[in-house]
Amino acid sequence: MKILILNGPNLNLLGKREKSIYGSRSFEDYFEKDLLPAFPDLELEYFQSNVEGILIDKLQEVGYHYQGIVFNAGAYTHTSLALMDTIAAIETPVVEVHISNVYAREAARHVTYIGGRAVGSISGFGLESYRLALQYFERLKPSKVGFNYKKA
Ligand code: DQA
Repeated sequence: MKILILNGPNLNLLGKREKSIYGSRSFEDYFEKDLLPAFPDLELEYFQSNVEGILIDKLQEVGYHYQGIVFNAGAYTHTSLALMDTIAAIETPVVEVHISNVYAREAARHVTYIGGRAVGSISGFGLESYRLALQYFERLKPSKVGFNYKKA
């Protein structure tokens, strides 16, 4: 099962940016030491960009043949109709994740353009939000009757 973890703007600065909110670990460290060993049965890939169009290109590239996408769109979550349209267009299911609890922060962060087109949203569990999203995909077994990787 091929799963893409896609991070948007400023998430390349994890471990350096606002540590009281986002923690002191880089995503690469968490990915290599925690996520890869925790999900040996998933084919995990990680990609990050600060550029909205590059995120759209990546979603389009994998969105018709990967089985899942775990997407933290960073601040584009709260602004991007274009990313919302891409998630609606592709067939691969997307789980929205946030490290911080966006609903406990400024009002502007309560709006998400990603959430309405995602299968579900996970927000506020620190880096473990990604693990929870991957658990969702891991438990979807291809053999399960009626299961369909594609969105309904
Ligand atoms: C974030 C929350 C967003 O509001 C913020 O712009 C980010 C990170 C999170 O993971 O908590 O860059 O997506």
